[in-house]
Amino acid sequence: MNVFSEEDHKDIQGLVLFGYAHAKSAKYLLLEFTDVPKSKQWLSTIAEEITRKSKVFDKKREVFNIAFTYQGFQALGLPQKVLSQFDHEFIEGIDTPHRNRVLGDLGKNAPENWHWGGKHNASVHAVLCVFGKGDAELAENEQARKKELAEANIKVIHEMDAISLPDNKEHFGFRDGISEPVLEGTVKHKTNSNTDNVVKLGEFVLGFENEYNEVNSSPLVLPSEDEQDILPYRESYKDFGRNGSYMVFRQLKQNVQEFWKYMDEQSEGNEEMVKLATKMVGRWPSGAPLTKHPDADPYDNGQTTNDDSFGYRTSDADGHKCPIGSHLRRSNPRDALADTSNAQESTMLVNRHRILRRGRAYGQPSSETMLPEELKNNSPKEETGLHFICFNGNLATQFEFVQHTWLNRATFAGLYNCPDPLLGVLEPHPTMDPNIDNTFTVEGCPVSKRYKDIPQFVETVGGEYFFMPSIRAIKYLASLE
Ligand code: HEM
Repeated sequence: MNVFSEEDHKDIQGLVLFGYAHAKSAKYLLLEFTDVPKSKQWLSTIAEEITRKSKVFDKKREVFNIAFTYQGFQALGLPQKVLSQFDHEFIEGIDTPHRNRVLGDLGKNAPENWHWGGKHNASVHAVLCVFGKGDAELAENEQARKKELAEANIKVIHEMDAISLPDNKEHFGFRDGISEPVLEGTVKHKTNSNTDNVVKLGEFVLGFENEYNEVNSSPLVLPSEDEQDILPYRESYKDFGRNGSYMVFRQLKQNVQEFWKYMDEQSEGNEEMVKLATKMVGRWPSGAPLTKHPDADPYDNGQTTNDDSFGYRTSDADGHKCPIGSHLRRSNPRDALADTSNAQESTMLVNRHRILRRGRAYGQPSSETMLPEELKNNSPKEETGLHFICFNGNLATQFEFVQHTWLNRATFAGLYNCPDPLLGVLEPHPTMDPNIDNTFTVEGCPVSKRYKDIPQFVETVGGEYFFMPSIRAIKYLASLE
């Protein structure tokens, strides 16, 4: 088993390993390095202050992390031969014709409509993620960071606020942030009884063994190119990537009123409306998993749950409880991946495609109660959605695979014209009937029910691929001549 040493913990940025649940407020600042010497000086000053494990729980400290785009590393002078060793998805960036098709960034989701990121907006060099226990603490932290940025002539090209909705809900009104892979060898692993959910460190952090029992490739430099002996060794090279992680950031706008109006139009009464939405999500608004509670939300008195101990293979193989095409079941099919012969094989394959989610909601909800009835009737106050953030050891086999092969694919697990019902991106494919629009199937006996012409409830309005390097890699960057 490979485990993090104390040295690794001091080196890995905190956001990779922790969701900072104690920090209710957050802000993301997109940066451009206009004055390279001063930018490097700034990086060397902040390197030790960047939040890591030891500092996450020290509530008095200011919590912040930084990740860079390919262009950001380039601007700071990381040599081409190091840059070219990053994964090609990161090098090419999120906005290429091929990747637009893979991720479903077409039509309404096309990058030409984005608020930020991609080829149609200002080039992003880095994102500074700033957190605060509450709004006042965030404001203090933000002010301190912005002062330093101004002194280093670093341009803030775009700012995004995040908020915490009541009971950890996302904007459609469902509890979020429940299912997460448990990292092998961590404290959580030792206290966790669900061994299916334990994933090797290398799936998320470079430098460690992954679920293929291999260590991912990583940008390396010669020892002679690290004169100050900052980076750790990988065999006879120095490893720039070790303890870093690829970070996906996508701004996903949620059309909340449209979502609930559609559910209402297809249902008779409030109860049926909530049940249909639950079938699409895979959990009740409280977070209770459908597969364990198929008939009603056991916590409809306002309580919520983090229950994550379930599979589908034995209790719900046909999807009669939790539909096979629901968001939950397709984003992690657990022990019931189609075309596998047993639970163990399924879990083994699925755990090669996990992601560590760190997203947060943005925009004021139209109702403080977050109750479906009110979300349906109230017009939106402003744009709302999810700043979707996730960490990966490999962008192609993790985020891109989940988004493309599980969420967007209309033929997922033998379904037909059924992309993910929440995201609703119908992958253009020659075998698809162009006359049939997005469909959602609720499996049942004796007949299944198909809901047709589902509107697109979520739109991509921004995004970039980042790399969140280790503290040592940041110090190395700052040391470059
Ligand atoms: C606005 C867009 C989205 C909304 C509203 C949304 C909502 C949710 C909700 C309510 C859950 C259940 C809570 C939980 O288990 O933590 C969930 C789970 C999940 N979502 Fe999403 N999601 C969105 C986008 C995405 C995207 C883009 C991806 C990946 C590409 C994704 C991947 C996942 C995964 C992996 C899980 C956990 C599944 C499991 O382990 O059982 N989601 N999402």
